[in-house]
Amino acid sequence: MRIQGGLRTSSARFVAMVCAVCLVLQIASAQTGTITVQVDKPGAAISPTLFGLFFEDINFGADGGLYPERVKNRSFEFPDPLMGWKKIEGAGSGATLSVRDENPINANNSHYLRMKVEGSGPGVTNEGFRGIGVERGEAYTFSVYARMVEEAHREGDARRVEKGPVSLRIELQDASGRSLGRARLKGFTPQWKKYTAVIRPTATGLKAHLNLFAEGSGTLDLDMVSLFPKGTFNNRENGLRADLVQLLKEMKPRFLRFPGGCIVEGRYLDTRYQWETTIGDITDRHLIINRWNDEFKHKRTPDYFQSFGLGFYEYFQLCEDIGAQPLPILNCGMACQFNSKELAPLDELDTYIQDALDLIAFANDPVTTTWGSRRAALGHPAPFNLKMLGVGNEQWGQQYIDRYKIFAKILKEKHPEIALISAAGPDPDGERFDFAWAKLRELNADIIDEHYYRAPGWFLSNVNRYDNYSRTGPKVFAGEYAAQSVGIARPDNRNNWECALAEAAFMTGLERNSDVVLMSSYAPLLAHVDAWQWTPNLIWFDNLRSYGTPNYYVQKLFGTNQGTTILPVLLDGQAKNGQNNLFASAALDSRTGEVVLKVVNAAALPRDVRINLAGAGNIRRQGRAFVLASADLKAENSFEQPMKVAPVEQKLSVPSGDFAYTFAPSSLTVLRVGGKAK
Ligand code: AHR
Repeated sequence: MRIQGGLRTSSARFVAMVCAVCLVLQIASAQTGTITVQVDKPGAAISPTLFGLFFEDINFGADGGLYPERVKNRSFEFPDPLMGWKKIEGAGSGATLSVRDENPINANNSHYLRMKVEGSGPGVTNEGFRGIGVERGEAYTFSVYARMVEEAHREGDARRVEKGPVSLRIELQDASGRSLGRARLKGFTPQWKKYTAVIRPTATGLKAHLNLFAEGSGTLDLDMVSLFPKGTFNNRENGLRADLVQLLKEMKPRFLRFPGGCIVEGRYLDTRYQWETTIGDITDRHLIINRWNDEFKHKRTPDYFQSFGLGFYEYFQLCEDIGAQPLPILNCGMACQFNSKELAPLDELDTYIQDALDLIAFANDPVTTTWGSRRAALGHPAPFNLKMLGVGNEQWGQQYIDRYKIFAKILKEKHPEIALISAAGPDPDGERFDFAWAKLRELNADIIDEHYYRAPGWFLSNVNRYDNYSRTGPKVFAGEYAAQSVGIARPDNRNNWECALAEAAFMTGLERNSDVVLMSSYAPLLAHVDAWQWTPNLIWFDNLRSYGTPNYYVQKLFGTNQGTTILPVLLDGQAKNGQNNLFASAALDSRTGEVVLKVVNAAALPRDVRINLAGAGNIRRQGRAFVLASADLKAENSFEQPMKVAPVEQKLSVPSGDFAYTFAPSSLTVLRVGGKAK
């Protein structure tokens, strides 16, 4: 009986399945339609800054990530000054290690390590940022500030001055203790001085560590212990991690929002981001706790601090390197409203406003001025061409409006040329959001920053969100968004294809409305696989490797295929998007003369569509298609399969301005057709 029943059940299932397939096929053929690109009815210009980047030092994004210093707590300034460091047992019996603060390198960097040596040792090891990544044959500069301490002893009547240790032996070892490279420094004097040596590892190590041994007898002080790759992006000294910058550059981002994110606000005002403390000699940049250090109980990162090695000067250089406009976001006298909610009184905002004015001066003023000459002294006489500035991060409520008003009045008076970004709070709708929009509209704000960390379904059903936004008044910056597979700030969120596809569909809506939406950026950008607090993220990395998620490839396809003029698109004759899971936007690229059509087929079936380039006339017969697709909505990229979901370029034959194309199931396709005949 059970078997029969089983048979009945399975045959019924089969019939039902066949019927379902027939139904689906019928629906599929019924859905087959037309995409009309109204080439002869060009719309508004596409904002040149439409697709950009959001950077925040979260998930080891800066220290331990983009900023490639290999030594954690290099300056012994963590509250636990030996965090990241350990005495090597057995090395130098009787030798001592201590952290001191008399006569430091400077007041901002007030702690250093003292090694007192008798014979040989002691040894100390640094664990790096979840290990130290080094590549065989690459050059790494070891550097340290050191001084020997002369100690006077009285022996009988003679005065003996004891010299410091003879040398410092540096050894890089892999996780198993195998030596990967060595160096030795000597000639220390009683004054702080920087010493350097180059190490070329004999093998690659993902989780190596760095050992230091003082040799000889006496006392040696060490500070700013550093192991830094020579091969940074553009080979800059104190530069940035080359593979990560390369990934960013390849997206063709039009702007770079920095430094965040909640990092801007700080938990408390005294740990807010203060840009002026992040420029100049790195020994002088005062370290603070990273506000993500203990934000999430489920993801504590007690060793997360901000060294500001990647400071505002490096940020401006990065913008130039990747061709992005700078978009600094500054604190407006409000600490994080999810945390302390601390406020600077309205009559004490001067320091905050002055910070903004100084930053504009640092970026743009001629070299003959105080700030311009400061910039020139750092190595960049030419201005950085700052054109926009964010006032506060994800703020909300009357308290924000009150502060924004004061900022905007002064900044607009002094710098009408700078576009100001204001905040609409953490949600894309609701009371706080409506309040912010109403008030900021009254204040004639330039650009309002909207954030959406929502389910993939939200992105699909909000594709037409901006179709009915007012064309007058403030413009929009979709400043932080990412589809959350489980829920906001949930540690089990995944960077899967389902989320990326939903974001792609949403982005067609951004492009169609680029007269209102001037800018957009996915958030967060970077995450270390062993040290993250927040997921999903656009790019994942470890100490040596990195890969782009499916979401990254969506952003990249939009960024590298941004047109110059909106072309209206009709789906089966209608302007509304999303019917039958089809989403589209089109643009003219005036540089090449091509029509760039982006189509998301969010259905699980292929879609045969006729594409009509209305009014395009005779066009080139050869086009290109970039297809990003996966039948598996749960598909993700990884170190092992970094290109599992990645675009594939295909040649496209375009017999006329009216042609057939089959969109792959669950796909984002970019078609580039037409163009200037050669
Ligand atoms: O992107 C992560 C965080 O989300 C940002 O720091 C903050 O602005 C938002 O709440």
